[in-house]
Amino acid sequence: MTLDESRQAISAESESASSCESAPHLCRCFSVSKATVQKAIAHHGLRSVDQVTACTDAGGACTGCHRGIRLMLAEHHGDPTLAALPRRRGL
Ligand code: FES
Repeated sequence: MTLDESRQAISAESESASSCESAPHLCRCFSVSKATVQKAIAHHGLRSVDQVTACTDAGGACTGCHRGIRLMLAEHHGDPTLAALPRRRGL
């Protein structure tokens, strides 16, 4: 299964699962729920915001959800360093 196929399957699965739930969106820019991000992290072993964005679109615009995505990555992997802000070049 390609990454695009996985992405579509996760999205379709989450949409059907959340249709009768009031699932809050983690990423408002792309209407991506926490459940979708959790499934992507678990299914693909994602370890960075960039990887989550590539798989789900979450985090691909205003960056307002990046902290939430980092916290979910840290919680899933039991690694608090994943919640840290990335180092910026030249600073
Ligand atoms: S809220 Fe996720 S990119 Fe804007």
